[in-house]
Amino acid sequence: MKKIIAIDGPAGAGKSTVSKICAARLSYTYIDTGAMYRAVALKALESGKPVSEELLRDIEIKLDESARVFLDGREVTKEIRTPEVSCRASDVATLGYVRKKLTELQRAMAARGSVIMDGRDIGTQVLPNADLKIFLTATVEERARRRYEELKAKGIAADLAQVVKEITLRDKQDSEREIAPLAQAADAILLDSTHLTIEEVAAEILRLATE
Ligand code: CDP
Repeated sequence: MKKIIAIDGPAGAGKSTVSKICAARLSYTYIDTGAMYRAVALKALESGKPVSEELLRDIEIKLDESARVFLDGREVTKEIRTPEVSCRASDVATLGYVRKKLTELQRAMAARGSVIMDGRDIGTQVLPNADLKIFLTATVEERARRRYEELKAKGIAADLAQVVKEITLRDKQDSEREIAPLAQAADAILLDSTHLTIEEVAAEILRLATE
C-alpha cells in the first residue's frame, strides 16, 4: 500500500475532486495545498496591501477532515474559490518566503503518513520521497469547461472565454516561475483525464495506490 501519494498538475485537471474520492476510499487525509496558497492570497487581498513576510508571520491556515479551509480562525472555504483569488494565489506562489513557509507546513501535515496531497510541486519539492506520484492533466479547453461548470454550480459568475484566458495565464505563470515551478516529477505517472470521468481517474489512482 502506498502511504504517501502526491498529485500534481495544472489548474482544473480534477486533482482535488479525485484526491477527495481516493482519500475517502483509502481513509487517508487529503491535503489541498492550493487552498493554502489561496488563503495567503485572500489575506493579502483583504489587507489591501501586497503580501509581505510581516503578513505571513502569524498567519494560521487550517484544513479540516472535510476539506474546509480556515484562515486565522475564520472559515474561508468558499471565499478562496473566486477567479480573483485564483489569480492572486498564482502571484503569491512565485515568492520564495511564501513557498518556504507553506512547504514547511505541508511537510508537517504529511508527517503522519496515509496522505494524499495535491498541488504543483508536491512530487518535485514538497514530498520528493512520495510512494506514488501522479501528474494529472487534460486539454486546456476541457479544464476550462470543468472550472466554468464548477464556478456556475457555486453561484460564482463566470464567462467561459474568460476562464480559458485565466487558466492559460495561470498555467504559464506557474510553469515558468523560478522557484518550484509546476512540473512533472521524473518518477511521476502521467494521467490525461481529457476523455476520462472522475470515477475512471479515481479508479486508476486507487489501483496504482494498492498494487
Ligand atoms: O484548483 P486549481 O487547480 O485551479 O488551483 P489550486 O490547486 O487551488 O492552486 C492555486 C494556485 O496556487 C496555483 O495556480 C499555483 O500558483 C499555486 N500553488 C502552488 O504554487 N503550489 C502548490 N503546491 C499548490 C498551488
